[in-house]
Amino acid sequence: MDRFLIKGGTPLHGEVTISGAKNAVLPLMAATLLTEEPCVIRRVPNLSDVRFMGQILFSLGATVKFEGDTLRIQARKIKGVGDYELIRKMRGSICILGPLLGRMGRAMVSMPGGCVIGARPIDLHLKGLKALGAKVKIENGYVDATARRLKGAELFLGGRSGPTVLGTANVMMAAVLADGVTIIESAACEPEVIDLGNFLNAMGAKVVGAGSPTITITGVKCLHGAEHEVIPDRIEAATFAVAAAATGGEVTLRGARPDHLHAVLDKLREAGVKVERSGQDLKISRHGRLHPVDITTLPYSGFPTDVQAQMMVLMTLTPGISIITERIFESRFMHVSELARLGADIAIEGPSAIVKGGKMLSGAPVMASDLRASAALVIAGLTARGTTEVSRVYHIDRGYEQIDGKLRKLGARIERLEAE
Ligand code: EPZ
Repeated sequence: MDRFLIKGGTPLHGEVTISGAKNAVLPLMAATLLTEEPCVIRRVPNLSDVRFMGQILFSLGATVKFEGDTLRIQARKIKGVGDYELIRKMRGSICILGPLLGRMGRAMVSMPGGCVIGARPIDLHLKGLKALGAKVKIENGYVDATARRLKGAELFLGGRSGPTVLGTANVMMAAVLADGVTIIESAACEPEVIDLGNFLNAMGAKVVGAGSPTITITGVKCLHGAEHEVIPDRIEAATFAVAAAATGGEVTLRGARPDHLHAVLDKLREAGVKVERSGQDLKISRHGRLHPVDITTLPYSGFPTDVQAQMMVLMTLTPGISIITERIFESRFMHVSELARLGADIAIEGPSAIVKGGKMLSGAPVMASDLRASAALVIAGLTARGTTEVSRVYHIDRGYEQIDGKLRKLGARIERLEAE
């Protein structure tokens, strides 16, 4: 397994281009299952999760071609049963359930397992599909959903920690070919849901209100092929913004879409970081002292849970006490014990982490546990005295396109040691 060796202490300088969004492209790829016609998706990030989704679509019978950052998919003849092992391995693939059911009237996909950040049930996905008339049973590890023709319905999709992003995507993709009108209340409002709504409408669907808590979908008989450019990855942009602030550097994020990052930029400003907007670009710089801030993760447009770990690193460098509360996933503090190896002082109290900041971190061997925790460990390594070795970086390759190459261009002393 690859590892990163990072020598800390170099402020990041320069510009970085933000890639297409992983969490937008996965549902977009699933949506291509809704038509027999060819679809083209542009600005597709070169990530292991994306290639994995490509394998899953191929195992269903679609043709999948990667040409640089362009993806050509045609799901002319497909089957409703996915490869158990493939699907089980990547949670995000659950979003093939809705389009398969909508198009084929049958979808059999393996139950996604839990993951280190939480149990992550799919009860809301199934509740939504059942509301459209699907018969759903869980058998032999499979979700087996059938419906001769789905029927539009009004449904509430809110759960104990608010809306569900992929649950909203699944129900949207099932409802576009259903008979009649579907109204999703308490829908997720993430930019990735808007991007999916735009793609579905480009395919001939009738989706109104994506990005608001109420989405109305008028079913149509069939959909056609379409072309679409993925939105930029707001979580990658936020990660580089925090890295620039943590190292006391100055970085321009090309193509970042600041309008997707209000909650993050607000907290960075509150912490004393300089944020400048110019069009779709953002310039992040920090020269002075940081101030402690309290953060609570919330559904969009609140502070994203996918930036919680990175912001925690920034607060370990900040003199004073910060309280970081995780309200979306019940066990998303895996990075805390690894940050403690680097000398951070963090105490966990229920859903909150109390960070006593201000002490310089010192390099050590640490292990990545999940995608965003690994990004946080890389940022910590960039600021720490001496050398930090981050192992299991396959986690980071799932969601960041060539992060080490991009960081080196900004002056970071980071090296990838490939597995022997
Ligand atoms: C998406 O996951 C993202 N993944 C996650 O990013 C992100 O953290 C999450 O949304 C929240 O923003 C992708 O888009 C591929 P949810 P998703 O359903 O849709 C509970 C990353 O780092 N819930 O919105 O799976 C759930 O347990 C990843 O890129 C139910 O209870 O998340 C959680 O507590 C990690 N029942 C909350 O809702 C359900 O049926 C939000 O989860 C579904 C969810």
